Amino acid sequence: MRTADIIALENRYVLQSYSRAPLVLERGNGVYLFDTDGNRYLDCVSGLAVNAFGYGDYELLAAMQEQAAKLIHVSNIFHTVPSVLLARELVERSFADRAFFCNSGTEAWEAALKFSRKWGNTTFAKPKFRFIAMHNSFHGRTLGSISTTGQPKYHQGFQPLLGGIDFADFNDLASVERLVTDETCAILVEPLQAEGGIHLATPEFLQGLRQLCDSRGMLLVFDEIQVGLGRTGTLWAHQPYGVEPDLMTLAKALGGGLPIGVTLMRQKVADAIKPGDHASTFGANAVTCATALAVMRKLTEEGFLAGVRDRGEHLVERLQALQQRFPGQLKQVRGRGLILGMVTERPAADYVAAFRERHILVAVAGPQVVRFLPPLVMATEQLDEVVDVFGDIVQALA
Ligand SMILES: Cc1ncc(COP(=O)(O)O)c(C=O)c1O
Repeated sequence: MRTADIIALENRYVLQSYSRAPLVLERGNGVYLFDTDGNRYLDCVSGLAVNAFGYGDYELLAAMQEQAAKLIHVSNIFHTVPSVLLARELVERSFADRAFFCNSGTEAWEAALKFSRKWGNTTFAKPKFRFIAMHNSFHGRTLGSISTTGQPKYHQGFQPLLGGIDFADFNDLASVERLVTDETCAILVEPLQAEGGIHLATPEFLQGLRQLCDSRGMLLVFDEIQVGLGRTGTLWAHQPYGVEPDLMTLAKALGGGLPIGVTLMRQKVADAIKPGDHASTFGANAVTCATALAVMRKLTEEGFLAGVRDRGEHLVERLQALQQRFPGQLKQVRGRGLILGMVTERPAADYVAAFRERHILVAVAGPQVVRFLPPLVMATEQLDEVVDVFGDIVQALA
């Protein structure tokens, strides 16, 4: 089938809830994707921060194939090996004592909301059930997730939303303090707001939130669905802050391309959850968990994350130099590791389209930020190629 035929079928049969780029991707190899017309693209999207090891990684494929041949799915009314080993791996490498498995980021977030409320409603003499979330945040697309997402465009048409949610300004501790009540159970925050335009939390903000939660008996919940698992150059995005949460959500990169979500929590939260409180048929799927174990093994290999930090710093320097060359068109470089954004004067979508014409795939993060999410294995020369092409595009569009 030709590209135009496939796109026509998509238009006819698939719910039109996405605006997709006009190309049909057929296969991938390393950091390259190939479309049905045989064109090759350098990938700086990684399936939206999923494909940390690019395409066709032998070790991930071997983990998937080996486990699929043994057992794919049996549900959570039985024990299986891969999920237990993955839970131990995630717990031992983090602040957490327990893991809950589901299938996507938004489900992991929904679970974090339910677990926080159950803890707040059952731990104190009077129930605590309110959340403080951040303006400009993004937590997914279930009703709980959009209700805690501080961007009105995701709410439109879906009201009434979940109640008991107050919004503070990201990086403004006083705005959070003003909203705390005796009914607040948790503060919800991304250490780096990704969809909201690539904004890093300040150390004072996250450290202040930790102190506030400790002094007022609230949980601190980090959404690391996009920025955890090595994307910012450390296994967890919060590591450089010296602050640990009480719950943390993960998804995206963990499954090596297979769907998975995880909610990690401290024992005090786990103590509030009883059998039957929450569940997922596909959660802890054996193939996904076996693949995730291979992802964790590769991420934590000696020197791997240091390489991500080095190449991230190199890309920041190159992008900053480009920004200084074109201060009228390019406004600011933001981010950390290999999640970087360039703030642009004209719509970011113009640059995304121009990159695509030059066979490089990039994304946006809001209307005026071009977002770079290369596979974590992308080489320095390939990152340089992206910046060189960006320079040509800026000149051409000027
Ligand atoms: C920070 C954050 N939270 C939650 C989600 C939702 O994850 P999913 O699309 O897997 O449901 C995303 C997805 O982009 C995200 O970036």
